Amino acid sequence: MDFITLAKTRCSIRSYTEQKVEPEKLEKILEAAHVAPTAANRQPVRLIAVQSTEGLAKLGEAAELYGAPLAIIVCADHSKAWVRPFDHKQSGDIDASILTDHMMLQAAELGLGSVWICYFKPDVLRRAFALPDHLEPVNILAVGYAGEAPAPPERHSQARIPISELVSYENL
Ligand SMILES: Cc1cc2nc3c(=O)[nH]c(=O)nc-3n(C[C@H](O)[C@H](O)[C@H](O)COP(=O)(O)O)c2cc1C
Repeated sequence: MDFITLAKTRCSIRSYTEQKVEPEKLEKILEAAHVAPTAANRQPVRLIAVQSTEGLAKLGEAAELYGAPLAIIVCADHSKAWVRPFDHKQSGDIDASILTDHMMLQAAELGLGSVWICYFKPDVLRRAFALPDHLEPVNILAVGYAGEAPAPPERHSQARIPISELVSYENL
């Protein structure tokens, strides 16, 4: 599948079957995260892959996981992230999100569904996974086999703003 077809085919899945994600597929998803770029190659991201019943129940106290058999907690490491000197903007959230996007698209290429989750209780998650202060949970990627029909790849002409509203050339 070429990239744009894959990008159009991917959609958020909010219902999963009980089928586990095969270890070799998880490995590929994590490899996609591993090769993702980060600012100044600082790699200020930690991933926690959660698959056990107890781990998913614990994470389920912080977020709706839609019954996914795998959830990857993506944390920014604020002690390692690059900081832009001019305004002190830190790249941690951006880096964490690039890894998340790589994993999400790799999952799609493997025939897996996923949903990116930011609606979670950070304090509950932090406590449940004993995160140190320098690690901030930024995203959760829930992954598994879809238990619902995927949204059609042609949906973007309605589901997204027109490209003319998204992009301007040379000036805003
Ligand atoms: C940064 C970000 C945060 C999101 N948080 C949630 C979330 O907490 N719960 C959820 O069900 N979907 C979440 N989503 C999924 C979006 O709602 C979804 O990507 C968007 O509606 C477009 O639909 P599509 O993914 O099917 O193309 C999130 C997506 C992104 C990129």
